Parts: sequence; structure tokens; C-alpha cells
Amino acid sequence: MERNKMETQKTGCGNNIRGRFLVLEGIDGSGKSTQVRLLAERLRNEGIPCDKTMEPTDGPFGSQIRQVLTGRIQADPRVLAPLFVADRLDHLLKEGNGLKARVEAGVTVICDRYYYSNYAYQSADLSMDWVIGANEPCRQILRPDLCLFLDVDPDAALERITRNRDHTELFEKKSRLIQTRKDYQEAFRRIGNEENIVTIDGSGSKEEIAERIWEAVRPLFIQSL
Ligand code: ADP
Ligand code: TYD
Repeated sequence: MERNKMETQKTGCGNNIRGRFLVLEGIDGSGKSTQVRLLAERLRNEGIPCDKTMEPTDGPFGSQIRQVLTGRIQADPRVLAPLFVADRLDHLLKEGNGLKARVEAGVTVICDRYYYSNYAYQSADLSMDWVIGANEPCRQILRPDLCLFLDVDPDAALERITRNRDHTELFEKKSRLIQTRKDYQEAFRRIGNEENIVTIDGSGSKEEIAERIWEAVRPLFIQSL
């Protein structure tokens, strides 16, 4: 039965051929990239056309951002914040394979970070109201069907980062991880009633977390449309 409902969504679910736009958020080292990969595999196994992507992107604006994050370019936070917005708008609108066009063409897209990251990270240096306002064009263009916040203890996240990488970036210090987690919570308090945000317990094995995520995602693909 479940399977039949999935089949209906795969083949275009009646009148509605729009894909879903799913976002994973969390502090650095929370396991987002891992879970984006596992979720994409699961959706594809269900026969749902699915792409995965990330922000900052690997496009021209994203590569500028990465140079700032690794210290190769110095930039004031007031310069970095709108660079993230520019990168996001380019991601949404770029000709050929912009996010908006892909979702409208029926592809489900899973994105590792979106404007919620801007709210949480850039509000350390700028007012959250400013950051929310700056992202309003993105929100108008494409609001996620679901944002999954992978909630992980900062100590556990730091352990994962240092165990597996030979370098750390700007936001990967413990005090910053603690602050960012608080800022996510503050952002969700502010905008939560206008968005579909689900907090996922990010502790345990990769497979356990993937199962929790699947429970939250599955209802979006069961035909009730
Ligand atoms: P993020 O994208 O949020 O920074 P990653 O998915 O890259 O996080 O995970 C950071 C590191 O932690 C990776 O080396 C990954 O293999 C590892 N990792 C991810 N999930 C878990 C988990 N549940 N338990 C232990 N290690 C994990
Ligand atoms: P990334 O290298 O993808 O790290 P992770 O694997 O932890 O997701 O992300 C780069 C950094 O960019 C990360 O520390 C969060 C930060 N960031 C912002 O500060 N604002 C934003 O709008 C986005 C999308 C990311």
C-alpha cells in the first residue's frame, strides 16, 4: 500500500508534478553531508528523481566565500554576509539548472544548508533582522517544503570534525559551535511559524539518524495531494 502511494508520487502525482525542496541544517560537523547522501540514496531507491546540492555552492560566488572561510581572502562580516545571499540567488536562478527550475520540473532537491544558515551564522556579527531581510528574495523564490535541523551536541560535532579533517575553518571552534546552535534556535523561534522545521536528534549512528530523517520526510511523498 505504502509502495503504491510512493509509485503515484514518482510518476508525477496527478496534477502536481513539482518536486520537493528539502534542506538539512546544523552546526559544522553535525553530519549533514552524510545524511544528505543517505537521504538521496533512499529517495532514489524509492524511484523518486532526486538531486543533492549544497551552500556555499561550488559556483563563482561560493568559491569566493570558501576563500574567505579558509583565510585566503580577508573580508569584513558585512561583506561576507551578502556574498552568501548572492551565492544563494545564483544557486536558485542560474540558467539551465537553477534550484527553482529543477524543483518545478519535478525533481526533488536536497540542499545541505540554505538561508537558515545565514540567519544562524551571520547573526553573530550582524543583526538577525538584517540577515532575515536580506534573504527575503530567496524566500520568495523558493521556500523549503521541509527543513531538517540536525541537532548535535557541540562537543560531539567538534570530535567528528577534528577526527576526520586535517584543517578547521572559521566557524569550527567550540565557542562558535555553541553560539551557532543557540542562534539557530533563536532564528527558529522567530520564523518557525512561517516555515516547516523539524528538529532531528543527531546523536547515534549514521543509520539511526537516517531512519529518524526518513520518518520526517516520508509523509511528503505519500500521496495526499
Ligand atoms: P557536516 O556536513 O555537518 O559538517 P559530515 O556529514 O561531513 O558533517 O560529518 C562530519 C564527519 O563526521 C564525517 O567524517 C562523517 O563521516 C562523520 N560522521 C557523520 N555522521 C556521524 C555519526 N552519526 N557518527 C559518527 N561520525 C559521523
Ligand atoms: P561547509 O564547508 O559546507 O561546512 P559544513 O560541511 O559544516 O556544512 O560550510 C561552510 C561554512 O559556511 C559553514 O561553517 C557554515 C557557513 N555558512 C554561513 O556562515 N552562512 C551561510 O549562509 C551558509 C550557507 C554557510
